[in-house]
Amino acid sequence: MGTSIMFGNSKGGVGKTTCCVNVADILASRGKKVLLVDMDPQGHCSMSLGKNPLDFFNTVAEVLTRKARVEEAIVNLGPNFDLIPSNIGMFDIEDELRRAITPYFLLDLALRPIKARYDFIIIDTPPNVGTFVLNGIIASEIIIVPIDSSFLGVEGFVRLKNIITNDIEPATKRSFLVRILITMFDSRTRMSKDVREDVASTFGEDIVLSSFINRNTDVQRAIAQGFPLRVYADEERKHPQGLVDYEALVDELLGLIEFR
Ligand SMILES: Nc1ncnc2c1ncn2[C@@H]1O[C@H](COP(=O)(O)OP(=O)(O)O)[C@@H](O)[C@H]1O
Ligand SMILES: [Mg+2]
Repeated sequence: MGTSIMFGNSKGGVGKTTCCVNVADILASRGKKVLLVDMDPQGHCSMSLGKNPLDFFNTVAEVLTRKARVEEAIVNLGPNFDLIPSNIGMFDIEDELRRAITPYFLLDLALRPIKARYDFIIIDTPPNVGTFVLNGIIASEIIIVPIDSSFLGVEGFVRLKNIITNDIEPATKRSFLVRILITMFDSRTRMSKDVREDVASTFGEDIVLSSFINRNTDVQRAIAQGFPLRVYADEERKHPQGLVDYEALVDELLGLIEFR
């Protein structure tokens, strides 16, 4: 049975989508069967992979509202790498989802029939704590909260952690592994170091992943060209720091799963 990992933070621009795309791509390149699920109406997963989110007829919206079977929304991106895309059509279904008897369990239910086909399901979420994020959490075992080396990102972690502990764990009778990932780290700034130290001393060393993501312009260049960083690096014959960081993150995630 595959492990689902969600990336979430109600603050935007912390690197959620970039982590999802690169972690999914690196896992697939290592021979793991990966499904990337985009739960953000902005469709940034598709865009980061060079695809227009409006080109897809069946998206996660059709799956959640049972207008399409989950298999009908799967797009193959390469060996071991599938995507369930999203687009602005998601905005139209929020009211419909809220009228369901179990509005927050719809993604979990939809993915169940295909979960055994994958080693990993990576779920990207929008910058809020609405219906789509709650669906993402309940469909996951591991929740990674990227914090962009600023104190505003920390608030997003506290909100998500409280919802999981106070509402979702009692309702699902399951426990979720929640970890902070420091992103946009800039060793030249005092602020980056302060945030990292503060977060570890406030929430505990073991809540913060030891791998972290440096700010690295190659990460943005790869997205602008519509490639995962690994593919971009191959084409440019480079070995950017960003790739070293995402590879280390994948190693740490694989370790977490082994000891779960
Ligand atoms: N490690 C990084 N270094 C530099 N820029 C990054 C890095 N990760 C993400 N970015 C850039 O920061 C912006 C926000 O990242 P994104 O992954 O879209 O955040 P979110 O999904 O949390 O809103 C994007 O323009 C992206 O290219
Ligand atoms: Mg995003």
